[in-house]
Amino acid sequence: MAIRNILQLGDETLRKKSFEVTAFDQKLHELLDDMKDTLIKANGAGLAAPQVGVLRRVFVVSVDGEYFECVNPKIVSKSGSQDGEEGCLSVRGKYGSVKRPYSVTVEAFDRFGKLFKVNAKGFLARAFCHEYDHLDGIIYVDKATNLQEEGR
Ligand code: CO
Repeated sequence: MAIRNILQLGDETLRKKSFEVTAFDQKLHELLDDMKDTLIKANGAGLAAPQVGVLRRVFVVSVDGEYFECVNPKIVSKSGSQDGEEGCLSVRGKYGSVKRPYSVTVEAFDRFGKLFKVNAKGFLARAFCHEYDHLDGIIYVDKATNLQEEGR
């Protein structure tokens, strides 16, 4: 396990579309383990593989003591809406308000290739949407209003 370098806004890798995972192998497990370590060290709510330079459809989310590893995720339903503040480990020192669905259902594979489904609302739904966007090269600053510097 290891801490990986988190790419910052301006790195073109963050703007690319990630590819589906086809092998649920040791390399994927190492990636997921490293992403967990990296997320914990950075004290973030989520981290997507392209943020560590790996263009694969993988993200991890850690919200309120719940931890999810999502491989080839799909947002299969969305409802409602919410406005709230977001930041990103690839956009240091900024935050901004983003409109997101209030609740989402995500289908994804775990590290062993087993399909699972999770219903999320509130901040957890926000985190899933934010991380999912990373897999398509979308960063929250594209959607944010009131983008501000931290430490007002
Ligand atoms: Co982010």
